[in-house]
Amino acid sequence: MAEQASIDTSAPAEEGVRRRDFINIAAVSFAGVGGAAVLVPLVSQMAPSADVLAQSSTEIDISAIQPGQAIKAVFRKQPVFIRNLTPEEISAAEKVDVASLRDPQSLEERTKEGKTNWLITMGVCTHLGCVPLGAGEGEVKGEFGGYFCPCHGSSYDTAARIRKGPAPKNLEVPEYAFTSDTVVKIG
Ligand code: FES
Repeated sequence: MAEQASIDTSAPAEEGVRRRDFINIAAVSFAGVGGAAVLVPLVSQMAPSADVLAQSSTEIDISAIQPGQAIKAVFRKQPVFIRNLTPEEISAAEKVDVASLRDPQSLEERTKEGKTNWLITMGVCTHLGCVPLGAGEGEVKGEFGGYFCPCHGSSYDTAARIRKGPAPKNLEVPEYAFTSDTVVKIG
């Protein structure tokens, strides 16, 4: 008995390998792009060039930071908060009984003489190194009005002193000096 022939379902053979045309563009010129104007934001210090990062110090123009505002700068590849405290924030910091603090320091000790409104600290939580919130526009400042670390809930006051949560120390104040009324040199 003859067996029924099986149905050939195989696809038609490819008509050969498709060819691609390779176009070598040896040189594509984007003349003009390099000359385009680029708006430099106020906080351009957030992204300093590599040569700036390599330096041991960095200079920052603070003239545009209004009371109640802060900026995030970068110093040795780490964030730095530069904050212009309001009179209310200064008095809130000065009202605190320093002896009651986990890391006892007055606002005066953490700022330069005659410039207690300029609070300059590293933006690195002293618990496990997260970047606290509070320096950016609209960021939460925590219940003590300074900075709040979202990683494990450390709250810092308006002198960036640790007030609540697991962080053991105040935000570190780096070495810095005013080179003029509007320029700070960190490092
Ligand atoms: S790293 Fe900030 S609270 Fe843990």
